[in-house]
Amino acid sequence: MPQELNSVNLSLDFLSVCEAAAIASARTMGQGDRKFSDHVAVEAMREKMDGVPMRGRIVIGEGERDEAPMLFIGEEVGEGFHKDVDPEDFPEVDIAVDPLEGTNLCALGANNAIAVLAASERGGLLNAPDIYMDKIVVGPSCRGAIDIDAPVRDNLKNIARKLQRDIEDLTVIVLDRSRHRKLIADVRSAGARIRLIGDGDLSAGISAAVAGTNIHALMGIGGAPEGVLTAAAMKCLNGEIQARLVFDPERLDVDKSKVPPAETVLSRLREMGINDPNKVYDTNDLAPGKKIIFVASGVTDGSLLRGVRFFGSGRRTHSLVMTTESRHIRFVDTVHVEGGPDTVIRF
Ligand code: FBP
Repeated sequence: MPQELNSVNLSLDFLSVCEAAAIASARTMGQGDRKFSDHVAVEAMREKMDGVPMRGRIVIGEGERDEAPMLFIGEEVGEGFHKDVDPEDFPEVDIAVDPLEGTNLCALGANNAIAVLAASERGGLLNAPDIYMDKIVVGPSCRGAIDIDAPVRDNLKNIARKLQRDIEDLTVIVLDRSRHRKLIADVRSAGARIRLIGDGDLSAGISAAVAGTNIHALMGIGGAPEGVLTAAAMKCLNGEIQARLVFDPERLDVDKSKVPPAETVLSRLREMGINDPNKVYDTNDLAPGKKIIFVASGVTDGSLLRGVRFFGSGRRTHSLVMTTESRHIRFVDTVHVEGGPDTVIRF
């Protein structure tokens, strides 16, 4: 029998994994090279991952084996795969990673780039295809008040009622994309305020589930992998996501010659066992695990997390660490000391 997953202990190992990715990519902040920023985050995350006491399997990663050299879907990671160990001593873990969420944000030095991962027992995270997903995300007070098929105005009315305020007092985050022209017009005509963001709908979704951020909902189309990671965070924060895959390029603002036609995507989905491409996924469909771990480390400063700070004798990282098994939401401020015995640690 393999070792049972102790998600609370493992979450601290995963903290080091995310911190390493955040530090590596933060070093490249503002250099204008998003691919390089992503590359160093992936390398750092991959290297640390092998020190985690588990038999891990990447279920959402940097792509299929042929297109991603590291953290590819299906890759086996962790100490439990080292030679000379008894695999039974290590728990089986599924892992979804986004070593640098917001590659452009990091490349530009803009807010809210994070290094993220979610983990669970086997089968606890949907093996989502790397396509787009329509999402609506709210916090704990608004659970049960949203319906992805309802008009935007109705959702906003219900969210406002749950939060005991007027629609005019709500702020909705939307990715600034032309595919959202109608959504933005609908939110505006309902009277809510909008924060348009260039990138990073995962950290925006997390903010929507934390009171005090002045973000009350995330709406619109972003990546499906980010949707699964958001769901993992919602399980820990008691928030809610509803989502639906978007397979029709006509609904997107991408260069049509660069994305496969709907038929090709549909047959790929069938191969993956997704027979109803129009299914509405809820939080539990996307992250059904009983033992979910979610970790995010700030790369650049953001609404919830500070970015990495570098100083002569060390670095300082700020992270969010949560599990469904414990009732702790940890904001972890770590000083990584690199200097000698005279190093001064500041509060
Ligand atoms: P990257 O981290 O891969 O750069 O993704 C950033 C992001 O903005 C996500 O947060 C979002 O889900 C997705 O890209 C939206 O995709 P697109 O930029 O193609 O509209």
